[in-house]
Amino acid sequence: MPTALRFASTLSAVLLAAFTLALPAQAQTAPATADPMPGLKAVMQQLGRHMQAVAGAISAEDWAEVARLAPQIAEHPEPPLTEKVRVLTWLGTDAVKFRGLDQQVGAAANAMGDAARRGDGGAVIDAFAKVQQACLACHQGYRASFRQHFK
Ligand code: HEC
Repeated sequence: MPTALRFASTLSAVLLAAFTLALPAQAQTAPATADPMPGLKAVMQQLGRHMQAVAGAISAEDWAEVARLAPQIAEHPEPPLTEKVRVLTWLGTDAVKFRGLDQQVGAAANAMGDAARRGDGGAVIDAFAKVQQACLACHQGYRASFRQHFK
């Protein structure tokens, strides 16, 4: 192979290697910079922490603590309006069902708070299961397609 040609093919191999190596580095940094729905994610993470705290309080039969936490789940903060509009636009006619599942979370969390104030451990646990069922139903119905659409 003439020297010039050999040089050219070596150069292109080096460039190709550099380009290939550059790709994973970009892929690693991209998600950290841009979560398209940071508000919704923060709301969800807080719901997760509160449900964990309730589970801990149930184990300790600390009904006062369950009564304190229940309204924070029932009346959780909402994501910012811009995110809500994007989510509702994406949901279209499913928005009613989506909102209904959030209302199920609220109703069950309120029932859990009422039961805790009565010191009725069995009813607290039943209501806790209903809250978790509503979380699960929304995740099973929408989480994968949400992530696919927005991320
Ligand atoms: C009306 C729908 C809906 C309900 C009800 C709901 N979630 Fe979510 N949740 C979502 C969606 C959509 C995502 C995906 C968000 C994302 O990927 O940014 C999610 C994600 C999460 C995550 C993962 C957050 C992360 O770090 O990626 C947690 C934890 C979570 N939800 C907890 C809960 C708990 C606990 C409840 C019930 C008390 C609940 N969710 C109820 C829709 C819902």
